Amino acid sequence: MIEDTGCRGARITGAGYYVPDLVLTNFDFEKIVDTSDEWIVTRSGIRERHMASKDQASSDMAYEASCSALRDAGVQGSDLDLIVVGTVTPDMPFPSTACLLQDRLGAAGAAAFDVNAACSGFIYALTVAQSMVSAGKAQKALVLGVETLTRITDYTDRSTCVLFGDGSGAVVLEPCPRGEGIIGTFMRSDGSKPELLYLPAGGSRKPITAERINNRETFVRMKGDGLFKLAVRMMVEASEFVLNKANMKSSDLNYLIPHQANIRIIKGVKKRLHLSDEQVIVNIDRMGNTSSASIPIAFGEARRKGIFKKGDKILMVTFGGGLTWGAVLFEY
Ligand code: UT7
Repeated sequence: MIEDTGCRGARITGAGYYVPDLVLTNFDFEKIVDTSDEWIVTRSGIRERHMASKDQASSDMAYEASCSALRDAGVQGSDLDLIVVGTVTPDMPFPSTACLLQDRLGAAGAAAFDVNAACSGFIYALTVAQSMVSAGKAQKALVLGVETLTRITDYTDRSTCVLFGDGSGAVVLEPCPRGEGIIGTFMRSDGSKPELLYLPAGGSRKPITAERINNRETFVRMKGDGLFKLAVRMMVEASEFVLNKANMKSSDLNYLIPHQANIRIIKGVKKRLHLSDEQVIVNIDRMGNTSSASIPIAFGEARRKGIFKKGDKILMVTFGGGLTWGAVLFEY
């Protein structure tokens, strides 16, 4: 948990997102695994998801989202002094995707690093950047969530392959008077249940071998029902924590931007926070689960549509592998 002890505030001054052109519909999955559009829509709320082309890596999608966010904020790449990227699908183990991005953006004066917190990657990255901007250690930060999940998806496993999509979302963070911009943050982890969502091979524990490739250990494994039971509880806990800290109630919120893992999880959180359909930003039907990219894509889309107005109180909340969960509350 991070306490907000900064001496100045930090606010989002620009946002952008990018999703690849290729769209996979539920009907495409009916042709490759034993599933149906009806099952996928009913159980997850997903109708379609985007897929990166063969030559597109995470840093390519991150670059597109970054350019859009920087334009929106009126900031040049060379102005940045911090780049934090949430991802579990970096271009390669190292250099970080943030470093690759730094070079392409011409951000020569920026510190750049990745944060690995699975679906909470963007919220963790935003909290780290907010802490640094508030502490006076950064002036102009670029924060992203980006995933090329289709590269680690097992297209013979119907229980996971229908869920995941690719994309990237970015925001620019700059200083503001204390009390404005980001009002509160919350991060928490529970490392005792790695088996609920993990990628078995490819790290130091199980380096890639032909046998592990044959065993499909280079693809995501997920126990969806185990995660499902925890997701609503953790997302509500994170939401209530930041609201309480800010002396606010859920009735003070204008919008909720939840991680887009499952429409039934989103509805559960909405119900527990007593929010209306109109207050909850949902794009899972068109994007699927894009892990750390889901919240900044949803935010970027809604901002581009002009949904938010100045002064709106917006809560972003997430839950994912690790386990990790967290929330960011801010005034638009
Ligand atoms: O983003 C990070 C965090 N992720 C989450 O929080 C994900 C949370 N979990 C979920 O969203 C849901 O658990 C899923 C959408 C993944 C699955 O929904 P579910 O209602 O929990 O289904 P289930 O896994 O309990 O499976 C029910 C049945 C099983 O058949 P049997 O054993 O009852 O005969 C599955 O084999 O549905 C079967 N099934 C499918 N059937 C058709 C699983 N996947 C499919 C499929 N098409 N794609």
